[in-house]
Amino acid sequence: MARIISGTETSRTMRAEIAREVAALADEGIVPGLSVVLVGEDPASEVYVRSKTQACEEVGMRGRTLRFPAEVGQDELFGVIDGLNADPDVHGILVQLPIPVHLSYKDVLERIHPDKDVDGFHPLNVGRAFVGDPAGFVPATPAGIMELIRRENIPTHGKHVVIVGRSLIVSKPLASLLMAPGPNATVTLTHKYTTDLSSHTRTADILVVAVGKPGLITADMVKPGAVVFDVGVNRVEDAISTRGRIVGDVDFAGVSGVASAMTPVPGGVGPMTITMLLVNTLEAARRSRAPDLSRGAR
Ligand code: GUN
Repeated sequence: MARIISGTETSRTMRAEIAREVAALADEGIVPGLSVVLVGEDPASEVYVRSKTQACEEVGMRGRTLRFPAEVGQDELFGVIDGLNADPDVHGILVQLPIPVHLSYKDVLERIHPDKDVDGFHPLNVGRAFVGDPAGFVPATPAGIMELIRRENIPTHGKHVVIVGRSLIVSKPLASLLMAPGPNATVTLTHKYTTDLSSHTRTADILVVAVGKPGLITADMVKPGAVVFDVGVNRVEDAISTRGRIVGDVDFAGVSGVASAMTPVPGGVGPMTITMLLVNTLEAARRSRAPDLSRGAR
């Protein structure tokens, strides 16, 4: 049976560490503040946003949600973001995605000051992550997977990592983190047009699945002894609860008989995503305190 990699447990440890660092910063008069912008009434987004602001409060940060109706105009939203960019008590800004289609998510994300972009979605931070510049913010989900790899002592040097999915939020930044000097992994990115997906997944020492398709990865697609990270969050019908239940992209029961270690859903990568958002917000608050004069103009 595969060992369970618990993001819940690692998150608990890390959030206690973060709370201590937040308290130390508060002694200097700085309380890290995250402002979450929520447009419309998507129920899943409501849940995510509540989890994020609650996590902030639990570690002593200021977490606040600014809500707007789905019809909000882009100029009004830009005005709000400009105000947050200028507010010294706000260290991190996050616009919860998806946003309604009449808004350009690209323009909205670019409006956030890169130094407050704790999601790491601004093109400048995307570029910094790609070139390995630590001045940027790495998106929380890939950062959370890297943290689990480190804390669980999972070897990556020379190993083959196969990532299923090609998103900007998870897969692309994760690929660049894993192939960088240090982790030194060989990375294969696959997606829905990949021919014969299982011929790739079966060669993975580490398999990361971030697609949003329940049951996509079955036991026959996994190399015996592989480590599997399941990033999927899917609500499926359930005989017991009318609200359904949450499952990942990996057939947990089947794959746990083949893999050496794997993340569950829920309780795996998900809690780590929120924890790494806290890490980024803490870092943004620290940077607001001490401008690094050794760096050139940015
Ligand atoms: N929607 C789904 N995941 C995310 C995320 O990590 N950040 C934001 N802002 N929106 C999301």
